[in-house]
Amino acid sequence: MTALLERPLVDAAFLANPYPTYRALREAGPLHWSEEFFGGAWLLTRHADVEAVLRDPRFSARRTGGWINDVQTERGELADFQRLFSRALLFLDPPEHGRVRGLMQAVFRPESVARLRPRIAHIADALLDAIDPTEPFDAMAQLARPLPVRVIALLLGVDPGDSADLMRWSDDLAAFIGAPQPTRTLALRARTSVLALTGYFQQQLHRPHDARPDTLLAVLRQARAVGALKDDAEFLAQCAMLLFAGHETTRNLLGNGLYALLTHPGQWQCLLDDPDRAPGAVRELLRYDSPVQYSGRRVTTALTLHGQRLERGDLVLPLIGSANRDPARHAQPEQLDIMRPDPGALAFGSGIHACLGAALTRLEAEVALRQLLARWPRLRLASTPPCWMSNPAYRGLRSLPLNAQ
Ligand code: HEM
Repeated sequence: MTALLERPLVDAAFLANPYPTYRALREAGPLHWSEEFFGGAWLLTRHADVEAVLRDPRFSARRTGGWINDVQTERGELADFQRLFSRALLFLDPPEHGRVRGLMQAVFRPESVARLRPRIAHIADALLDAIDPTEPFDAMAQLARPLPVRVIALLLGVDPGDSADLMRWSDDLAAFIGAPQPTRTLALRARTSVLALTGYFQQQLHRPHDARPDTLLAVLRQARAVGALKDDAEFLAQCAMLLFAGHETTRNLLGNGLYALLTHPGQWQCLLDDPDRAPGAVRELLRYDSPVQYSGRRVTTALTLHGQRLERGDLVLPLIGSANRDPARHAQPEQLDIMRPDPGALAFGSGIHACLGAALTRLEAEVALRQLLARWPRLRLASTPPCWMSNPAYRGLRSLPLNAQ
């Protein structure tokens, strides 16, 4: 074991800024064993390895069983939760993965997503209108949290009035999935929320008809009706996963991105000089401080990696946050540079599980940035410091106090 890993990796300093630790780990080697994650996992630090493992079928995405079974609970307490969870696209291997992904792909195509631009702009506008610019405001509470959940409600085709419940359920799920050592309390809270979510979507499944046939729910409901989704559980798992995936991550892109820009005033100015730089800025912000810091895979067959034997069933965590700062892949990786030519980072993963929502989330962030630049060019951090959440996988801010003027 690397000396670095003899003490806990995830502490307050790591949560506030994990990059010095990633750098030390990368410099110490490409692969490290850590007892701190899910009872033991291999951490991969380099871009080349992270990308290779995400693309390699010998590393399976079916990893939920271990996670949930490792939690200390009464026997069977989480069985229903796990059964459902393991059916979500993110945790499927081929051939199920291709079948389920194919059903949703059309809704996420860049052309389909681009049609949502005016509606996303309208939601962002309304949220910004509600802010009093003469007082400090919390950008997480007033923009970064509500925008993605309303957009995902729009895409799914559910009542935006249900956003508060949807956000709460999704947060409980994120706290569990993102915890390196999920506690029983976190697991049980996540289970309660998943059951609430599935109850909610079960009602949506049996809604009599669709006003809009192009929503994700309409597409999934049709797939269920013709048997392309095998049973109700498969339908419900996708709905719960989409809500979670669409909300937590985009929130953190908005929060981490704004924080990065406002702590680098030269970069904010560069955007003010030409707001058409916003799409490139979003790509760089995704590299610089990724909302998803690591994913997980299970080894399906014993193999050797960097001279180390990995056994069947071992858990591997490709550290996306570290890969995106790997100097072997990115010049001056610790620098934020919104003019960087397409950084080709791994924020959205790689291979068959690469993020379905990438175009949507980039559009949301671009729209929000353009509106902030146009309204409040003097936007800056308020004197109250921001506060990071205690989730090392889904890195994000709990609060981000800003001054608009
Ligand atoms: C900043 C925002 C986002 C980031 C950083 C992000 C990141 C990722 C990453 C890293 C993966 C791959 C995980 C793996 O290989 O294990 C992934 C998969 C996925 N993402 Fe995102 N995501 C974001 C937003 C979204 C949004 C807005 C949606 C949907 C509305 C979404 C839906 C999905 C889905 C469905 C998958 C699973 C794809 C599959 O397994 O084939 N994501 N995302």
